[in-house]
Amino acid sequence: MQNDRHIVNLALIGFMGTGKTSVGRLAAEFLNFEFLDTDELIQSRTGRTIADIFAREGEAVFRALEQQLVAELAGRDKILIATGGGLPTHADNLASLKRHALVVCLWASEDKIWERVCHQGHRPLLNDPDPRAKIHSLLAAREPFYKQADVLVNTDLRTMREVAQQVVHQYRFAQHSQ
Ligand code: S3P
Repeated sequence: MQNDRHIVNLALIGFMGTGKTSVGRLAAEFLNFEFLDTDELIQSRTGRTIADIFAREGEAVFRALEQQLVAELAGRDKILIATGGGLPTHADNLASLKRHALVVCLWASEDKIWERVCHQGHRPLLNDPDPRAKIHSLLAAREPFYKQADVLVNTDLRTMREVAQQVVHQYRFAQHSQ
């Protein structure tokens, strides 16, 4: 672990449909951490849905809101942050999270992601004539960022509970190695 890091929090990154919110809630409960979800916070602060922000103001405004939130969270401790799928690929969000949090990436195959998101309609980036191809290209572009996480957990063959237990295990291990 780099020594300019003081790990007191946990951040989950990963593509849409990898289970960050469900796993995050469970893992936060196991650790007795406060659970925060960047999408939920942005929605409650603005009083608007993510889809509405993308439609009316565009993705850049949404990314600026995410960046502002990441900067604010740097002052907190004992929080588990579930991040939106694009958050670690923008600005210096990943570097900022790494200063105070163990960053765990939840990974899933393209097929699994599709299986999980194909019946959900709330994600503006998948509101595309060919959402399957969009997943393929976004995942390819984002993979280098996701792979900068401290730990990668494959979610394909695990239940959400098993993934949460794995996340907690990794956090405790990192705490002991600090
Ligand atoms: C996004 C993922 C979404 C949400 C927004 C953009 C992305 O969050 O932040 O729709 O760029 O991948 P989830 O990963 O929780 O679906």
